[in-house]
Amino acid sequence: MLSHAFEGYNVCIFAYGQTGAGKSYTMMGRQEPGEEGIIPQLCHDMFRRINDTDASDTVYTVEVSYMEIYCERVRDLLNPQNEKSLRVREHPILGPYVEDLSKLVVTSYRDILQLMEEGNKARTVAATNMNETSSRSHAVFTIVLTQRKHDEHTDLKGEKVSKISLVDLAGSERAESTGAQGQRLKEGANINKSLTTLGKVISALAEVTKENAKDVRRPTRP
Ligand SMILES: Nc1ncnc2c1ncn2[C@@H]1O[C@H](COP(=O)(O)OP(=O)(O)O)[C@@H](O)[C@H]1O
Ligand SMILES: [Mg+2]
Repeated sequence: MLSHAFEGYNVCIFAYGQTGAGKSYTMMGRQEPGEEGIIPQLCHDMFRRINDTDASDTVYTVEVSYMEIYCERVRDLLNPQNEKSLRVREHPILGPYVEDLSKLVVTSYRDILQLMEEGNKARTVAATNMNETSSRSHAVFTIVLTQRKHDEHTDLKGEKVSKISLVDLAGSERAESTGAQGQRLKEGANINKSLTTLGKVISALAEVTKENAKDVRRPTRP
């Protein structure tokens, strides 16, 4: 994945499954040696690659954002003071983006760890019958890696931007099986809706790859 990102591709990982399946553990892990999840491991490897590279003509910039989607509301985990729900908008060239989401520049693995910790503290967690600390929200950790190259001989400048999206989805269990009512039931309905839509988007993308040239409509937000 990291190799693809360094080549300039956008990459994404979703953790999907029932509450208690180990999604958050897989993505974030614990703050102990040997217990780190995919996100800290990937960040660690990314900075190791950046620092190890001997290409002095390349300048790397790493920016991080971390948001949470709870009941269709988007919250900035790196700026929890911003209480209002952020708007998802569509850029004609760059595609969908979240307006006003903070994007912080980081220069080391230590920087990222600190932001991750802050963001994790800000996450909404609510108990269901299935798991005390079960998370009823989706969390999206995004890393934007920019590589600027300056060719001495030709004096040409090039830029490669890749986005790494690491998503810890909310539990996929059915609302009835958790015995949820009221707010919990509403959460469940929103989660089911967004997971169903995500499923449709992925099937449509797979369909596009399969049929390639044929026009397949891609569903976006419900
Ligand atoms: N591979 C694993 N090794 C050790 N503990 C794990 C593992 N996977 C999950 N756990 C533990 O199981 C519990 C539930 O995992 P969690 O990641 O919170 O589930 P989810 O996010 O899917 O609801 C947590 O206490 C977590 O630490
Ligand atoms: Mg979780």
